[in-house]
Amino acid sequence: MNLSVCIAPSIVQDSAYTNMAAPMESFFSCLGKGPIQTSCIQLFSRKFSRNVMKKQRAGTSPETNTGKGLPKKWPIPGVKQVVLVASGKGGVGKSTTAVNLALGIGAVKKSAVVGLLDADVYGPSIPRMMNLSGQEPELTKNNLMKPLQNFGISCMSMGFLTDEKSPIVWRGLMVMSAIQRLIRQVAWGPLDYLIVDMPPGTGDAQLSMSQLIPISGAVIVSTPQDIALLDARKGAEMFRKVGVPVLGLVQNMSVFHCPNCGHQSHIFGQDGAQAVAKEMGLEILGDIPLHIGIRETSDEGRPIVVSSPGSPQAAAYRQLAQSVLDRLPRYEDPLAPS
Ligand SMILES: Nc1ncnc2c1ncn2[C@@H]1O[C@H](COP(=O)(O)OP(=O)(O)O)[C@@H](O)[C@H]1O
Ligand SMILES: [Mg+2]
Ligand SMILES: [Zn+2]
Repeated sequence: MNLSVCIAPSIVQDSAYTNMAAPMESFFSCLGKGPIQTSCIQLFSRKFSRNVMKKQRAGTSPETNTGKGLPKKWPIPGVKQVVLVASGKGGVGKSTTAVNLALGIGAVKKSAVVGLLDADVYGPSIPRMMNLSGQEPELTKNNLMKPLQNFGISCMSMGFLTDEKSPIVWRGLMVMSAIQRLIRQVAWGPLDYLIVDMPPGTGDAQLSMSQLIPISGAVIVSTPQDIALLDARKGAEMFRKVGVPVLGLVQNMSVFHCPNCGHQSHIFGQDGAQAVAKEMGLEILGDIPLHIGIRETSDEGRPIVVSSPGSPQAAAYRQLAQSVLDRLPRYEDPLAPS
């Protein structure tokens, strides 16, 4: 028994964060199956996960997960930076923002190669918004799915793999495996930025995303109401808990731009959101007006950044793209010689 107890720590630390239960059983196999082995494993698992959490808090191992037997995070081959577009609830304009942010990045940084991952497996909207409905991905020689291309953006969505009209009922584990597929079985690279349209909420999808791949930052989309009702805070807190940097908030539909006379009105008051965001320690990355042109173009698969680049709405998305780029950490190549 003594022997197992001294050897096990180094082995476990090295094979860190792989599934713990099975290796533990073999480490303590000399005890034979029974209550003694079980309590050794329990004791050890508890101590081990505490160590990992301590390390994480100290910030020494940003690429690792909590010690719950989760796989190590692996970057997506050839993808430099991953940015999540998320919100506490649905219908706030997440997908519209993700699409126009991806195109906005391409517009303000011409050299950037940008991809768009639709992680909203319950209600995929990227195929429609990017005018790619009904298309199916081809396979590479290595049996990876090739992203579909439009407006210079590489896109992948569950909507390409299932019938968009049929309701999709996913449970936690299925959501995880669907998202895993969209990450690992797609020939994403080379990409400078992968923008991810997240499903609403703070559930399984958010968790599995942050556990599977290193994420450069999350952008929280909110309407002025969410900010006032603190829905946006829940989203931000969730990402902070799992070690994903929150870049800031996008205030969507805050100012009404009248399509007839062009007058503008702040529906929810001008600076309320600013004050609340500040209180939450979040920056406002951009202000997107409520404008019928945004809705129409996004429903028709002609996103406003490409269909009306001269409009103030498109300019608002480019400004958002610039502030996201400004706040991303500098990309460091994990394979670069140190
Ligand atoms: N700034 C905006 N102005 C006008 N309509 C918008 C704006 N942002 C989003 N919409 C519309 O609101 C609806 C919900 O947006 P969507 O991006 O699908 O939200 P989510 O992905 O958060 O569920 C869509 O019909 C979209 O066209
Ligand atoms: Mg959506
Ligand atoms: Zn008017």
